[in-house]
Amino acid sequence: MFGIKISSDWNISENDTTAEEIYLNRRKFIKNVGKLGSNILAFGAFSNFLNPIQVSAENSISRKITTQNTKNLIDFQENITSENLTSRYNNFYEFGTNKADISFLAKKLKVGQWSIKVEGLVHKPKVLDVDKIIQAMPLEQRVYRLRCVETWSAIIPWSGFPLRELIKLSNPLSTARYVKFKTFIDPNIAPGQKNRFWEPWPYVEGLSMSEAMHNLAFLAIGMYGHQLNPQNGAPIRLVVPWKYGFKSIKSIESIEFVKDPPRTFWQTVSPMDYDFWANVDPTVPYAKWDQRFELPLGSEKKEKTMLYNGYAAQVRKLYS
Ligand code: MTE
Repeated sequence: MFGIKISSDWNISENDTTAEEIYLNRRKFIKNVGKLGSNILAFGAFSNFLNPIQVSAENSISRKITTQNTKNLIDFQENITSENLTSRYNNFYEFGTNKADISFLAKKLKVGQWSIKVEGLVHKPKVLDVDKIIQAMPLEQRVYRLRCVETWSAIIPWSGFPLRELIKLSNPLSTARYVKFKTFIDPNIAPGQKNRFWEPWPYVEGLSMSEAMHNLAFLAIGMYGHQLNPQNGAPIRLVVPWKYGFKSIKSIESIEFVKDPPRTFWQTVSPMDYDFWANVDPTVPYAKWDQRFELPLGSEKKEKTMLYNGYAAQVRKLYS
C-alpha cells in the first residue's frame, strides 16, 4: 500500500489564507446554488479528503491512498475552493461552451479501460493502460492554484504524480524537444465536437521537454481525495499551475515526443490571441482579457494575479 506524499515548496502559504469575508461569501454562494444539502456535500467532500480513501471503483485503481500529513491539509481548509464550484463550472469545449452544462454532458465520457498512446521520438512506441500507469506511479496530493485566462481562479487539491515519471517510462529519444498531448476525439459522445465540427479537434496542448520534466508539471488522476470527475478531465489530465488553465489538457489519449513546438488547439483557433507558452503574467493582457486581477470562484472580491501564478520561485529559471 502506498501513501500520498504532501509536498512542500510549492504549497500555498498561510499568508494566502482566504479572508474571512471571502470565505463567508463562498459559503453564501454555495448556499445559493440552491441544491438541497449542498453545504453538507461540501463538508462531506472535505472530510473525505482528510480521511484515508479508496481512489478507485470505476476503473479498478485498487490502491488505498492515505494522507500522511493531515495537519498540512487542515491549514488549507479555508483556501481550497469548494468542489461544488470546481465540479460545476468547467471548460471542456468537447462538451460545449456553457460551463454549467459540462458536468452533465461529460457523464457520457467512458473513462474505464482508458489507454494512452506514447508515440513520436521514442525508443519504442507503446500503448499504456492508465490503470497500470497509476499502479506503477508514486501518488501524491498537491494543492495548486488554477488560473484561467478568462480571469477566474480556483485552488484545487489534486492527486496524481509528476509528469516526468511518465516521461521516464516513455523513454524518449535525445532528439525530442517538445511533448505534444492530445485529448480523445468522438463526436458521438462529445456534442462540442459535433456541433462545432470546424474547430481543430482533437484538443492539443504542448510543453517543452524542460517544462515537462519540471517537478511542478503534474498528471492528475484525482481531486479532493477521489477519482477525477469526467468534467474535470477523467481519467487523467495535465496540471501546469504556472500557465493559464487552457494548457492543462483534460482526458489525455496521446503523448507524442516531437522536435518542434506543436501547434496547439487555441493557437489554431486564434493565432493572434494565443501562443505556445502561455505563462501567467499579470503585466501582459492575454487573449481578450486584462490579466492583472482574478476572481476566485465563489468570491466577489478580485485578487491580484501573481507572476507565474505564484510559482515564480520554482519556474523562473526555466525562462532565463
Ligand atoms: N482540456 C480539454 N481537452 N478541453 C478543454 O476545453 N479547457 C481548458 C483546460 N483543459 C479544456 C481542457 C481550460 S480553458 C481550462 S481553464 C481548464 O481545463 C479548466 O479545468 P476545470 O474545468 O477542471 O477547472
